[in-house]
Amino acid sequence: MSVREIKPGIYSVGVADWDRRLFDELIPLPDGTTYNSYLIKGTKKIALIDTVDPTKENELIENLKRLGIKKIDYVIANHAEQDHSGSIPGILELYPKARVVTNSKCKDMLKSLLLIPEERFIVINDKETISLGGKTLEFILAPWVHWPETMFTYLKEDKILFPCDFLGSHLAGSDLFINDGCMVYEAAKRYYAEIMMPFRATIKKNIEKIKDLEIEIIAPSHGPIYRNPEYILNSYKDWISDKVKNEVIIPYISMHNSTSKMVNYLVDALIERNITVKPFNLTKTDIGELAIALVDAATIVIGSPTVLIGPHPNVVYATYLANALRPKVKFASIIGSYGWGGKMVEQLTGMLTNLKVEIIEPVVIKGYPKEEDFKALDRLADEILAKHKEIKIV
Ligand code: FEO
Repeated sequence: MSVREIKPGIYSVGVADWDRRLFDELIPLPDGTTYNSYLIKGTKKIALIDTVDPTKENELIENLKRLGIKKIDYVIANHAEQDHSGSIPGILELYPKARVVTNSKCKDMLKSLLLIPEERFIVINDKETISLGGKTLEFILAPWVHWPETMFTYLKEDKILFPCDFLGSHLAGSDLFINDGCMVYEAAKRYYAEIMMPFRATIKKNIEKIKDLEIEIIAPSHGPIYRNPEYILNSYKDWISDKVKNEVIIPYISMHNSTSKMVNYLVDALIERNITVKPFNLTKTDIGELAIALVDAATIVIGSPTVLIGPHPNVVYATYLANALRPKVKFASIIGSYGWGGKMVEQLTGMLTNLKVEIIEPVVIKGYPKEEDFKALDRLADEILAKHKEIKIV
């Protein structure tokens, strides 16, 4: 990405990673990502807000050279994760007088992760400010969105919030500002689902902390910049709310078509009851799509054959992930098949410890589904409908 001016004296100097397809060796990135970094020139001082992934350090330095930046006074570290902090050591080497401005938790992490020496830091507290001359940076500690040291930086005169990961999206693009709301909504929801959803409770508190700020622009550290802050803030308020939708998601695996026959039957039974249903064949699905579906769904039904005495390993993986992401899902059940017995139901329900769900009686059958098994699936669909009616989403 080339250098772009956002407002007078405020520049985007970050880098797009068009080809990246996996983050943390876990999260699929179908649209690549960007590592956004912002340069702010005051009349007296120059600050760089966050850096870029170390694989893209040279491109960040090239952008700073293009702008003719001969000195940087402050490198603001909103977050210690290396996709934003990994180029700080290189910047400190290039600009020997630069100091890293961050909170004490982030300082400790940067010292241990990147071996930055103590004397290069300036430690700030919540609501503290630094003046660059005509441009004032206020620091707002926002722990656990999504690490313990995360914070936001607010540029008072220009009313710009730099929230780092928070409100961002993994979406590589050439446009600096959001120009395709639908595409960004999907990418931002995927980002929320995969990164932020486990911290729904702390996000509620941190959104409160910024509710009285006058914000004209939100400039996150991944994806495009928002000129209409309400767009993303209202989306987040919806996602973190306790409201669920009349939706059932069914992650499943089938080895010899017994479980898939049950899934297909249940899908139709739920559709007949006017319930939105999203099946995910785990041999094919992008795990991010499953995470997105978990944001709003009222019910999860896990479908698995029995392998040896337990669930299929791919189902274990998806169940572990769903439990770790802590969605607000309210009901859960299990369907599947076995050849000669097993403990599939006990093992899967035992993995849902983070979810505050009511278990609806599972339907686990011997062999290929028969007439009475379809009746049991109808009973399950009826019970799901009744539960959805109980919580008034139907
Ligand atoms: Fe974009 Fe938590 O790093």
